[in-house]
Amino acid sequence: MSKGNVYIETFGCQMNIADTERANSRLRAAGYEISGEAETADVILFNTCSVRARAEQKVFNRIGEIKKSLGASVEPVIGIMGCVAQLEGETLFGGGAGVRIVAGTRATDRLPDLIERALDGEKQVLDLGERLEDEQWDVPVVGRISPYVAYIPIIEGCNKFCTYCIVPFSRGREQSRPASEIIDEIKKLGDAGYQEVQLIGQNVNSYRPKTEAGLEGFSGATPFSRLLRAAAATKMSRIKFTTSFPRDFHADIVSAMDEHENLCDWVHLPVQSGSDRILRAMRRGYKASDYLSRIDTIKNARRRYALTSDIIVGFPGEMAEDFEATLRLVEYCRFDAIYIFKYSQRPGTPAAGLDNNVSDNEVMARFLALEQLQKGIQKKIYADYVGRDVSVLVERKSAKSEMDMSGHTTCNKVVNFSGGEDLKGQVVSVRVNEAKVNSLYGEVVC
Ligand code: 5AD
Ligand code: SF4
Repeated sequence: MSKGNVYIETFGCQMNIADTERANSRLRAAGYEISGEAETADVILFNTCSVRARAEQKVFNRIGEIKKSLGASVEPVIGIMGCVAQLEGETLFGGGAGVRIVAGTRATDRLPDLIERALDGEKQVLDLGERLEDEQWDVPVVGRISPYVAYIPIIEGCNKFCTYCIVPFSRGREQSRPASEIIDEIKKLGDAGYQEVQLIGQNVNSYRPKTEAGLEGFSGATPFSRLLRAAAATKMSRIKFTTSFPRDFHADIVSAMDEHENLCDWVHLPVQSGSDRILRAMRRGYKASDYLSRIDTIKNARRRYALTSDIIVGFPGEMAEDFEATLRLVEYCRFDAIYIFKYSQRPGTPAAGLDNNVSDNEVMARFLALEQLQKGIQKKIYADYVGRDVSVLVERKSAKSEMDMSGHTTCNKVVNFSGGEDLKGQVVSVRVNEAKVNSLYGEVVC
């Protein structure tokens, strides 16, 4: 008999999606059912993100919204998990939202027990502890959020402590997963029909497992490039990875990608700023010229790799000339896409103590100028795809048209095309006949 229905709402990055999958699998194993909607749930958990400000407020607003839609007669147990839970801890019990469970980023495997305690009547169940030695990383193949793309965490946490970033505090120090487990999981996913996996972590390049198990026989300058070669040998058709860190992005990663077609043609390499002064203030550990030499390695590779990046505008002390250096860098790199973030002060981080002297208007103006520049670059890059055939993993109906399906290329671009739902999960070849700002449009050719 089911112990109850649990519904988890997930915010933030792929790590959170992977944590939700892991939580779902542990809960199923313990006899709970995973509910697709809040209405039928006995327990509602919010898996939260704290990278930018007001995260806590957003969660409380969402709890209010859900409670209102459920009406007063239904009273599910409400819990907060993930980064906000880890950072705010027991103060969340006092937020007026009736929160009964607060489970930090490493408490995922203990959720069945925490929920049981809440259902038994305990009013405030708190767990901000570390993972225990015997807690496994793996998530069974069934019950993943996407039936087509599987996220596989290979490293958790971050040791970089960039001055603006809350992640080292919310997710703790780096811990790498044994390579043998990762390789086994890729094989199992392949057997179950998955065609794409994404190896994920805050900084995948600093992957450093405690033992060699799973990497024997694979060469490479870093454990990560060896892992890539081991992953490629599984014959999984598409292997992507994110996020890379510029200083740790060894040229051997590009060599491994050049050697293996199934290591996909996409690199996400966040630069954050093009100004050496700001990079130093962010404590990123590299100069713009170091970053550009990585970009040159990627651009001079045997294959053409799509490049994407993250950039923060309005970091404290960013002057007009610093921002101009960012514009110049973006012009040089010709990224396929960038994610632009306005600097957001996170209490407890070193940058929070800096004088924030860039006005909101100036931050907005820089955001728009950068966006404008990128749009022009992207237009040309996307236009170059017209007339070419791209391989698309079909994932869903297009949001724009009932008649169209939508999927991703190996280079992580969205492609829409006319076709039916029977194509879901298949890899099809699409001839591109139109380039939009952030997507391509075409017809299936085989
Ligand atoms: N303010 C703005 N953007 C941030 N990011 C991380 N922390 C902050 C912050 N405090 C951005 C970085 C990172 C991406 C995931 O989020 O660009 O690469
Ligand atoms: Fe945050 Fe820097 Fe670590 Fe990325 S590398 S998660 S920006 S501290």
